Amino acid sequence: MRFLISNRAAISPTTINGIGHGCADQPPKIEGFRKHHMLYPELFRQLESVRWDMERDIPWASFDPAALSDEQATTIKMNAITEWAALPATEMFLRDNRGDSDFSAFMSIWFFEEQKHSLVLMEYLRRFRPDLVPTEAELHNVRFEFDPAPALETLMLHFCGEIRLNHWYRRASEWHTEPVIKSIYTRLSQDEARHGGAYLKYMKRAIQNVGLEAKSAFAKVGVLMASARRTSQALHPTNLHVNKALFPKDTVQSRLPNPDWLEHWLDKQIDFDAVWENKVVERILHNMSLLMERSFGTVQELNKYRKELARELGSALEPGAAGKAA
Ligand SMILES: [Fe+2]
Ligand SMILES: [Fe+2]
Repeated sequence: MRFLISNRAAISPTTINGIGHGCADQPPKIEGFRKHHMLYPELFRQLESVRWDMERDIPWASFDPAALSDEQATTIKMNAITEWAALPATEMFLRDNRGDSDFSAFMSIWFFEEQKHSLVLMEYLRRFRPDLVPTEAELHNVRFEFDPAPALETLMLHFCGEIRLNHWYRRASEWHTEPVIKSIYTRLSQDEARHGGAYLKYMKRAIQNVGLEAKSAFAKVGVLMASARRTSQALHPTNLHVNKALFPKDTVQSRLPNPDWLEHWLDKQIDFDAVWENKVVERILHNMSLLMERSFGTVQELNKYRKELARELGSALEPGAAGKAA
C-alpha cells in the first residue's frame, strides 16, 4: 500500500491554514473571558512536571552486557535515527501552522522531547556499543523537506502515530532483555502517550474552532490509520511518502542505513501481532468516540461517520450554502 501524505487533500491547505487565526484576531468572549485560552502554557507545566532526567532517571549502572545481543543493539541504532526525524517533522509543522502560534510554541516541547529520545538511545550505544552510534551523516540523511499538507490531517496522523509508537515501545521493552534499555523503552513509551494526549487537546481545539472541517479530517485519517491490521506497510508517519519529487526515497524509513529495519523489527523481533495491532485500533476508536461524542466500536462505524461528514461538508461548501449557514 502506498500512501502519499501530500495527496490526502480533500480539504485544501488554504482552508486549513487559517486555523487559530480567527481566535487570535477576534477572540470570542464569554462573560468577559476569552473562550479559548492558549494550550501551550498548561502543556508546558504538565510535561515539565513529569520530565525525566537523562543522567539521574536512567539506571545506567544496572547494565548487563550479557543480556544485549548484536541484533538487539542494531535495532537501537535504527530507532535512534528514526527518532531524529522529529527534526524535519518540526520544520513541516512550523511551516504548515504559521497561523497558529499556540501550537507552534508547543512544538518546542515536542521537538525537544523527541530529540531527547534519539539522544538517550545514542547515549546507550555510546556507553555500551560505541561501534553502533549513528554518524552525523546518518542522522542528517533523514532531514529532508516534506511536501506541504493539510494541517488538520497531519495533526491526526501524528496523534495516531504517537498512539502506535506508545504500543511499539511497550512491546520493544518486553522484547529487549537488557535491563537498562528495557527501562529506556518504558520511558519513551510513556512520553509518546503524553504526546498523543497533547495532540488530542489541539484536536479538541480545532473542533471548537472549525467544527465540521476538523471532524471530517480526523475521521478520514482515523479510518486510514485504524485500518492497518498490518497491511503490507506499518502505518506510522515515518513510513509514509512525504515528498513526491524524491519518491520512492521519500519516507524516513527509506533513508535509514537499513530501510527494511522497521518491518523486520515489527514482524520478526518485537512481534507486533494482531493482538497488539488491535490495541492500537481500540485506542484510536476510543479517542475518536470521545472527540466526536459518538461511539465507534469498529473502524467500519467510524468509516460510516466519515462518509456522513464528507456529505455534510460537501453540502456546506456548495455555492450559497455559506449564506444559509450564516
Ligand atoms: Fe519519540
Ligand atoms: Fe512522540
